[in-house]
Amino acid sequence: MEYEINEFDPQKATDEFWEIYFEFTETNFRYHNPDDPLPNREVVIQRQKTEIPYYHVKRWLAITPENKVIAWAGFGAGVEGSSDYEENKHLCNMNIAVLADYVRKGIGTDLLKRVVQEAQILGKTTMEVSTDTDPGRAFLEHFGAQLAIEAAENRLDLEDIDWDLMQSWVDESSKRAEEVTIESFYECPEEILEEYSELYTEALNMQPLGDTEHRANIDGKLRRELEQVLKDRGFTNYTLISREKDGKISGLTEILYDSRESYKILQELTGVRPEFRGRGLGKWLKGKMILHIRDNYPDVEVIITGNAEANSPMNSINERMGFKKHKAAGSYKVLTEDITKRLEI
Ligand SMILES: CC(C)(COP(=O)(O)OP(=O)(O)OC[C@H]1O[C@@H](n2cnc3c(N)ncnc32)[C@H](O)[C@@H]1OP(=O)(O)O)[C@@H](O)C(=O)NCCC(=O)NCCS
Repeated sequence: MEYEINEFDPQKATDEFWEIYFEFTETNFRYHNPDDPLPNREVVIQRQKTEIPYYHVKRWLAITPENKVIAWAGFGAGVEGSSDYEENKHLCNMNIAVLADYVRKGIGTDLLKRVVQEAQILGKTTMEVSTDTDPGRAFLEHFGAQLAIEAAENRLDLEDIDWDLMQSWVDESSKRAEEVTIESFYECPEEILEEYSELYTEALNMQPLGDTEHRANIDGKLRRELEQVLKDRGFTNYTLISREKDGKISGLTEILYDSRESYKILQELTGVRPEFRGRGLGKWLKGKMILHIRDNYPDVEVIITGNAEANSPMNSINERMGFKKHKAAGSYKVLTEDITKRLEI
């Protein structure tokens, strides 16, 4: 099989290039997600071009002599300067996709070599990768990667929602925790920036993380930078927080929305501080958020979220809302040294 592996820089890509790129990504997307609408092209280009601060990214494409893209690989790793660098400086991420008609020909392995060489150059000793396909799991296990946590993409069709139940969650919880108020924001207000960033970090790290090694540490400065990245990618980020009588923030939930892909909302992080649990705050926040979605985004048909299988409290709330498992996903990790030996590079 004849093909070349070339590095791909979205900042320099021409219109002709994007054509062959989309032929690949859309064929691949249809194969793995036959029931979903294709991603909006303008959105894809914008997100590919958005640079993430303190994050080094490399991308490669495998291209045939007929100028057909048949596979893709991506590599990402934190670089010095951000608050979460220290605890994650040994880590990197990767992703590889080969078109269904071209699998089991060694193309994935060839791309993996590029990715691993990049990890070696940067001194990243552990590679983390997620996959939602069985061939992906088999490929990673072949190279010695180990399952670090089992997760799933869960989805909720808006037409399946029991709106009376959602309203009752809001009504009952607000009575039960009378002294608590719910506030909302798109951009974190300056006066709670540090406190909120601390809670956000805590909520990310409190989730069941299995044997994964990445840990959050988002300070106010990084928070502002991440807010800008979401804006640059075209997302609206809406957050609800619960506040205790003494002003302390006890919980949060947030969503992402892009009007160019208005059929869906991404339900992102939800968390309640341990000392404030057991008072219905999680149900209140999630119930209030879903009513907000109904009232503000009339085109939304589905809410998409991701959860660790071991996250019983979150999965219990989600199941009662009507979320159903859409796709299983496994997070794997492997030592760069071990994979280097197996690849004989
Ligand atoms: C995973 C993927 C990238 C593999 O690409 P590929 O080009 O087929 O991989 P290779 O041909 O280099 O396979 C290397 C080895 O991995 C293992 N492997 C790959 N696919 C497998 C499968 N479907 N079943 C069992 N073993 C498999 C085999 O041991 C294989 O060697 P062999 O063919 O000599 O037995 C491809 O299947 C894919 O794009 N999957 C969807 C995306 C994905 O899940 N990516 C996440 C992984 S980073």
